[in-house]
Amino acid sequence: MRRPLVAGNWKMHGTRASVTELIEGLSQQVLPADIDVAVFPSSLHIAQAVQGLSGKAVKVGAQDCAAQVEQGALTGELATSQLVDVGCEFVLVGHSERRLILGESDEAVVRKFAAVQAAGLIPVLCLGETREQREANTTLDVVGGQLAAVIDALGVESLSGAVVAYEPVWAIGTGLTATPEQAQEVHAAIRAQAAHFDAGVAAGLRILYGGSVKAASAAELFGMQDIDGGLVGGASLNADEFGAICRAAGN
Ligand code: 13P
Repeated sequence: MRRPLVAGNWKMHGTRASVTELIEGLSQQVLPADIDVAVFPSSLHIAQAVQGLSGKAVKVGAQDCAAQVEQGALTGELATSQLVDVGCEFVLVGHSERRLILGESDEAVVRKFAAVQAAGLIPVLCLGETREQREANTTLDVVGGQLAAVIDALGVESLSGAVVAYEPVWAIGTGLTATPEQAQEVHAAIRAQAAHFDAGVAAGLRILYGGSVKAASAAELFGMQDIDGGLVGGASLNADEFGAICRAAGN
């Protein structure tokens, strides 16, 4: 059985004061014991979140990292060893906002994925198609290609212990959620692609859905066979809403 994971991506939001408030709100949530929960604050607020959530069942991750473990002369970047040092357990890799707005290539994503694992952290590899790509019926090719970049470079074993997040770009921050059936189709294809190389790795791979997940839509999405939790943006900035999404993932 795969243990569900609900992750909150806070993106470029928050001040010290609002993060304090959000942490307090999260600390009061009743969270299911049979799922993992993680939040991804901005880099500025990672340490604050690690400290504020210590002793709680909420882990902390980073939204991005450098493509190297070692510290060094790379202005503005964060080495994965530094993320370990500050108390991170996860790192988002290849979020569509970084791929599409900041021009992050598959090659860069692969290097970051490797650096995350080399540091002993868990990568959350984000995949997803744009609206144009979906309308052109190329969704499975696009997502499959993004996944293949990692499998080809690092081997399917690299997915063992990793997390994949399917986030259709057209559903991010738009209020448009993929239907459970649309999401399930892509999740099943991702798992089948991994199973082609290693059935055991595929069976254990957690595949999260992201894109306008709300408490109202979570239970139906998480009820699908190959959806193992969610990567939540906007709704994760509200502790009560995020808590309700987490509870929808519990048994
Ligand atoms: P929204 O939940 O705001 O659509 O964002 C999804 C996302 O990009 C999470 O990484």
